[in-house]
Amino acid sequence: MTTMCSRLSIPSSPGSPDPARMTEQPVAEQPVAEQPVAEQRSVTVSEAEAVRRYYRGKIAAIIDRYGPGPRVHYHIGLFDGCSPAPNSTAQQIRARIVAAQERMLESAASVWDAGTLFTGNLLEVGCGLGGGAIYWAQHFPVQVTAVTNVAEQAAVTHIFAIAAGVAERVRALVGDIGELRLTRQYAAAVAVESSCYVPRPQLFQRVAAALEPGGVFGIEDIFLAQPAWRELFDGYWKTRIGTVAQYQRAAEQAGLILDKDLDVTAGTSDFWRHSVAWARARLAEPTLSTPEEERLMRSIFWHSQFLDGWRDGAYQTRILRFRKPG
Ligand SMILES: C[S@@+](CC[C@H](N)C(=O)[O-])C[C@H]1O[C@@H](n2cnc3c(N)ncnc32)[C@H](O)[C@@H]1O
Repeated sequence: MTTMCSRLSIPSSPGSPDPARMTEQPVAEQPVAEQPVAEQRSVTVSEAEAVRRYYRGKIAAIIDRYGPGPRVHYHIGLFDGCSPAPNSTAQQIRARIVAAQERMLESAASVWDAGTLFTGNLLEVGCGLGGGAIYWAQHFPVQVTAVTNVAEQAAVTHIFAIAAGVAERVRALVGDIGELRLTRQYAAAVAVESSCYVPRPQLFQRVAAALEPGGVFGIEDIFLAQPAWRELFDGYWKTRIGTVAQYQRAAEQAGLILDKDLDVTAGTSDFWRHSVAWARARLAEPTLSTPEEERLMRSIFWHSQFLDGWRDGAYQTRILRFRKPG
């Protein structure tokens, strides 16, 4: 079978041409209001570069695990309680993971009232390979601006948007959301497992400034419930995981009000079971290179620990919605 992955030529240089770059440019950060100390520190240049390097190096692996596309998601899924059957192939497990990821987007769309509110301009913060941006463009009458801090992701998003037939409604924009001054006004913004990368005060200030009065900011992400588990999460994903209270505080300081909060943790712990089962099924395939084998074994080790964390109640998966008054 020809997959999207095998047809894609993944850009390898950070300077890949990106027409979207020319429309809105990153500008110098504006000072933000006084914040509580733990929330105040902005990302250092080396931390930001570490995140970009991490994602630059992961494009092929993400398509292998969550593809074939054109909607490729890099976030947790909502499962229906069934474990993968014992002799499932990697492809069968992957299909279940992708279906669960899309179930998460369906659920988020319902919490965010996307059927009513997603019209006009929609901002996607941290778009990855564009799975969400394409999903929103296919399901709602929106023009999506898909922001990523990694040029190669924007290039892949553009290729997948063409394959999905929505290239004219998905604009990939390269820049750090904490530094971008967006020139458009947006009816809604979303961040699917990307908010945990950005200092919350900057994130909410930037998004609030870009939203129309009455606009909403939908977040799906993982939140910390037990402090002892912070290091495992942030160390592996290069994030700065927070609590709902921290999000709420940063949002209020930016003038946004939390008006929806749905805990979907229970449906997500099976993600780690599926993820480990997928890696084991891939390891059983005869054609793997040694580096691939090592990568899969590392992933089994870490994802098993996240499963323990989920079982222990250390993390919560929540869908939040913030509203700008007006
Ligand atoms: C876990 S991935 C989620 C991708 C996508 N939302 C999805 O669900 O498939 C996190 C994304 O956030 C992006 N990201 C991280 N920090 C960012 C920043 N400061 N500005 C813009 N994008 C950022 C990463 O490059 C990546 O695309």
